[in-house]
Parts: sequence; C-alpha cells; structure tokens
Amino acid sequence: MLKQSHMVSHQIGVAACGQSILLGFRLLVHSPRIKQVALLRGYPTQPLFQRRSSTCHLHRTTKAAMGSPTVHTFFDGVSSTCTYIVADVASREAVIIDPVLGFTVEGTKIDTKLSDELLAFVEEKQYNVVRILETHAHADHLTSAQYLKLRLGGSVPVCIGEGITQVQRTFAKKYALPPSFPTDGSQFDCLLRDNDTFNLGTATVRAIATPGHTPDSMSFLIGDILFCGDLLFMPDVGTARCDFPGGSAKDMYKSIRNIYALAENIKVYVGHDYAPPGREASWESTVAIQRQNNKQISDKVTEEEFIAWREGRDSTLGPPRLLHYSLQVNIAAGHLPEKEGDGRFFKVPINSVVEF
Ligand SMILES: [Fe+2]
Repeated sequence: MLKQSHMVSHQIGVAACGQSILLGFRLLVHSPRIKQVALLRGYPTQPLFQRRSSTCHLHRTTKAAMGSPTVHTFFDGVSSTCTYIVADVASREAVIIDPVLGFTVEGTKIDTKLSDELLAFVEEKQYNVVRILETHAHADHLTSAQYLKLRLGGSVPVCIGEGITQVQRTFAKKYALPPSFPTDGSQFDCLLRDNDTFNLGTATVRAIATPGHTPDSMSFLIGDILFCGDLLFMPDVGTARCDFPGGSAKDMYKSIRNIYALAENIKVYVGHDYAPPGREASWESTVAIQRQNNKQISDKVTEEEFIAWREGRDSTLGPPRLLHYSLQVNIAAGHLPEKEGDGRFFKVPINSVVEF
C-alpha cells in the first residue's frame, strides 16, 4: 500500500507561543540563539511559561536519546491540537503529523498562519519533508495537508490509515456528496495498513492501527516515540470520545492495551491536550506513565469498566464545533469542497423536529 519509502531521527530544546491566531505570534524564549532569531524576525520575546492564554500557540523542540528523531511540537491553542514535525537532523528528512488549517466559523474564513509557520520553520531548518501523516480524519479541526503539499512542491505524499474509506463512505452519504466523490481513499497518496513501515533517516516509522476514536485511527511509532493521535490524551485527561460513526469504546480499549504492551520507556506524544486549569499545555508521557496514571484506562481498569465509562461519558457530549467543516475537508485529504458556481461551499445539516 505504501507508494514510497523514506527516512528521520531526534534533538534540542526551544519554545515559542503566540497570543492568538488573530493577534499574531508571540515567541516565548529560553534559548539565546532562538531569542536572536525571534528578535531578527521582529517577534516580541518573553520568558518561557510566562503567559499562555487558551488560544496561545506553542512551539517546543524535544531532544531524546541518541538515534531518536527530533520532535518539534506546534501546539494550536484554538483547537488544542499538537502538530508535530519529526526530523532526522543528519539527513534533514522530516514528516509532518496532523497539520492544522486555521478556520473561523464566522465568515467561513480559512487562514494559513499556522501552516505558514510550519513552512517557515521547515525552511529555516532546511528540512526535506518526505511525508505528511494524518493520524485520522479529524472532527475538530481542518487539516492543512493539501496546502502544505502545494507549498512544498506538490509531491509530498499525504498518508492516512486505510480505514479512511469507511469514514468516507459514511460521511459522503451524510453530506450527500456527489457520486464523483471518491470513497476509495484515492484523494490520499498512500493508505497505511497496520504494521506498514518506512524509513526516516536512521529511524523506522511503523504505522500501528489503533481504531476506537475513529475506524481509520493510526499511531506512528518512530524510533522510541509513539505519536498516538487521539487514542490517548495526557494521563490527567484520559482518552478521546468514541461515539463518531465507526468509533467503538471496545476497539479503543483493545487498541490501548496493544499500545500498553509496548516497551514501558516508549514516549507517547498525544494528538491534543485539553489541560485542566492550572496545568501548562503538555503532550509527552510514556507507556509506563499512561499505564500507571491514565485516569480512564490505567492497568487497573477492566475492559467492562472502561467501555461503561466511555459510553456513558460520550452520551453526554455535544458535537464538536467544527464537525461538519472539518469532515468535509478532512475526508478529502485536505482539499476544499469542489467549486460550484462562483464559490466553494460547506454543507451543514439542519436539525429540526418539524418538517415544513
Ligand atoms: Fe480526533
């Protein structure tokens, strides 16, 4: 299923944060060199962790053990999403995981500031982006995969789990998309199967199917780091909902137990962080920490207990704010809806108990 194979690796520590997507970026600095870069670019600087609003944008780089890839995390405070650039410093090859396209419901406005920041960073580091990876078809933010692909020259493969075809069939029907809308996953450049591997520098990337939140959910194990998408959140937050079509608390339990069977020192990088009040946004834990401390699914929690809790909780949740917009773009690999007349349009279902 893989159309190409490529490579990566791991390194240093920096951080940056913006006030909001509308107000622009504000770098938080704890490195003289980065502070210099920030000043050169005209960004205001301030000490790390000084202030982070709920809409702040963070960028932090993590150095891991020898032979591991460098992880650059870009946290979007609007959607609480972690976008990762994972790179092999030696070869300069990199992958981008779960990039976010800015979107404002009021005015149906798309902006590319977050993605432009990624592109500027890639350019500054002189990385060669060899794949864009989606952990799943997100329901809470739009992907910028196609925008990035276009800006990166048009040939970087956009990849997702093969379960996307199930998601496409479901939502093509729900949104009454035209018969010309493919439901075979062909909008993507590669559909990943469980256990597919490819190289990134000296590291091996392994795709691990982790259905539960959605049927197409994939985690990516790169060296000793697992990017788990919405399978697990930070231990004090727990797990993602499983009530989207094709989602399953039972599948999620099984997927998490598979991940818990990995080595305890594997680092786990989550797809979102909904930090409780008083805690800074964070995204890194380990298999051991999750097994011990995940508030919804530690080693002490049985399958029956987890399913009962998860399903009960999901029954109380409303739809994500960007649900319809996200899905119509994300099941199309990040392409905007086809042009009709003078524009492009989203479809939003009407909920009414009365027909008239
Ligand atoms: Fe999600």
